[in-house]
Formats: sequence, structure tokens, C-alpha cells
Amino acid sequence: MAFTKKTVRDVDVDGKRVLCRVDFNVPIKDGVVGDTTRIKAALPTIKYLVEHNARVILMSHLGRPKGDGPEPELSLKPVAEKLAEMSGLPVQFVPDTYGDEAKAAVDALQPGHILVLENVRFDRREKKNEPEIGERLASFGDIFVLDAFGTAHRAQGSVVGPAKYIPAVAGFLLEKEVDTLTSIFADPERPFVAIVGGSKVSSKIGVLDHLIDSADTLIIGGGMAYTFFLAKGYSVGTSLKEEDWVDRAKEMLEKAEKKGVKILLPIDNVVADHFGEDATGEVVESDKIPDDRMGMDIGPKTVALFDEAIKSSKTVFWNGPMGVFEMDQFAKGTEAVARAVADSDCTSIIGGGDSVAAINKFHLANKMSWISTGGGASMELVEGKALPGVEALLDA
Ligand code: 3PG
Repeated sequence: MAFTKKTVRDVDVDGKRVLCRVDFNVPIKDGVVGDTTRIKAALPTIKYLVEHNARVILMSHLGRPKGDGPEPELSLKPVAEKLAEMSGLPVQFVPDTYGDEAKAAVDALQPGHILVLENVRFDRREKKNEPEIGERLASFGDIFVLDAFGTAHRAQGSVVGPAKYIPAVAGFLLEKEVDTLTSIFADPERPFVAIVGGSKVSSKIGVLDHLIDSADTLIIGGGMAYTFFLAKGYSVGTSLKEEDWVDRAKEMLEKAEKKGVKILLPIDNVVADHFGEDATGEVVESDKIPDDRMGMDIGPKTVALFDEAIKSSKTVFWNGPMGVFEMDQFAKGTEAVARAVADSDCTSIIGGGDSVAAINKFHLANKMSWISTGGGASMELVEGKALPGVEALLDA
């Protein structure tokens, strides 16, 4: 499916003030930026704007501040410094977002230079999407560019507001994310295998539903598998479970059967007597989980079963780990699935969140076709929901 909105290519940015919403919500500890993936992902648009002589005003949120004013540990200053280091471009930071200091910095900005405003969420009106936020930010620019895919599902001031006042177009990251995550479901090369993990059925029900509509095989692992075990009548010991969602899980299994979609659930599991770094695992079959044991990872027979399906696929979509991969003794299942996807010739699309952290942990990122920079945003897109940020842009 082609992207249906105007992009930076469709507007003349020469000498213009270009207000660009990026997602610089990156991990920061003691003023040091940890993972730079999101900054790197924003560079193509930023470089394009600089090369085309725009005055680039960048804005983003970082974390979830209270909205009562500056919180030093959530300042974007270290991110602006990291951007300067990574891009080699002239980047300036202003410790203000909506006030006179920000306005003065914007007025003084030269073509080909970049200004980073302070965290948009230091003011609570941003999250409430109060109209004066969008209007004020729009007054800083001649053109609005949305490149914050990871935040495009939030109808917040800096995401949707400026589009009401000035021409609004997409950046390259937003275009590529939306294009990739929608075309995979519109016309996937088959067999199409979807892999879903993570802890809760309830948080991914819309995603599971949509995947049963488009995939040939749906692999289910992680904590959510235990709710499906309950739906099949197995007992799950002390494993994570959502009893209120067992009926919905049953409906999913029935729907898949009717549609001829193969559902693969774990056939064996690594279980432990408690949740902790010092816990040790033992392997049990899925219908034989003892009452005093909890599932922590998929077992070796399951790895072989999933591996077989992944090997024969032409397209894979993956979201959510297969077990508690943060603890090395329970990371084998997630690692094996990541390796199977990496080693296969399929087109592999990784839908944000914990699965990205897992892929990075195993150093397999460069073996995947596309890794989404959005967690919540990619899930909403996969569910078939419209993203408010994208909706607000000019149609192509
Ligand atoms: C994310 O990290 O998923 C995005 O930056 C959105 O952040 P939020 O969930 O705090 O809105």
C-alpha cells in the first residue's frame, strides 16, 4: 500500500523555518544517552532538511514528566549533544519550549542550522492537546514535518496541533514505517508467519485478531501462551495467566481453525519454582506443568517446532519475547527464535518494544529487514487503527 500523505519531498523548504516533531524518547542515565537507535532513525529527514537549506526546529518528548515544569533528568540537552556528535551538523539547544527564549532562538536560527527545543511534555497542556500549544508551536514554523513514528498514535499538542495552522507533511522515517507495517499485511509474500509473545493476551488482543486475518501461521509464545493453555484445558501451575481472557483466547483458537490459520503454541516449557535471577529451570510438556511451577521460557521441542515454521516462511512479523529473556537462563527460547528469523531468507519485520530489546541483546539487528522504532504506534497500526499524527497530514 503506497503512503498516501505528502512528504518533505513535496514541499519547498529552502530558507524556510521547518518545525519537525521527532521521537527522541531515548533511554538516558545520568545525562548519558544509552540507545541511539531513534536518533539515528531521524537523521535522514534532518540531513535532507539541512541539505535543502531549511532552518530546522526539532521538538520531542522524553519520558513521562509530570507537566509542572522542567525536570532536569528529562531534559533533551544530552540528546541534542548526541545528535550534534552523530550528525556532525550545527545543532543548538534552547532550554525552553513555548516561551520567549524559544521564540528568540527560533528567530535567530540560520538556514542549514538546527535548533532543539526543550521537552514538550514539561507543560501539561501538551498531553492534553490544548489548542494554544499547537498554535504556539506552529508560529515557530512555516512548514510542519511529522517524523515521530513512535509517537504518531498520540493525539498530543506537538504531534497533531501544528497541522491545523501550517502545511503538514511526513518525514522519511514516518513514511517508511507506515509503508512497511501496512504493506506487509496488505500483500505479504507467503507463507506469512506471525510470531507474538509478551506477557498479556489482553494488551495484544486486537493484534492477534488482525494477525489471524492475514497470516498463514501464528506462533504464540511468552507469558500469553499460558492463557491459551487454559483455553485448551491445561493447568498452568503458578504461571502468569489472565483468567478473564480465557474465553477470548478460545474464540481466537476457533476463529483460526475456521480460517485455516495454523496456530502453534509451545509443546514444552522451561518452568521454575519462583521468579528470580537465582531461579533454575526444568523442562516439562505443556499439559504437565506442576501446580507449584511457573513457565519462564519455551522448551527445546518448541524451539524446533517454531524453527521449522520460520525456516519455510517468506514473510515474518514478530512482536514480543518468548520468555523472560532478561534473565540469561530463560533467554534461550527468545534467542533461538531471533536466530531462526535472522538466518531465514524471509522478509522480517520486527514490531517495536521488547522484541527489539531482545534482538539488540543478541546482536542480530542488522540481520532483520525492518525494525520498527515504535512500540505502541506499531501495534496500533498492525491492529488496523488510524494514527492521529498521520491523519492530520496533508493528503498526497
Ligand atoms: C514510545 O516510547 O513508545 C513513544 O516515544 C511514546 O511514548 P509514550 O508512551 O510516553 O507516549
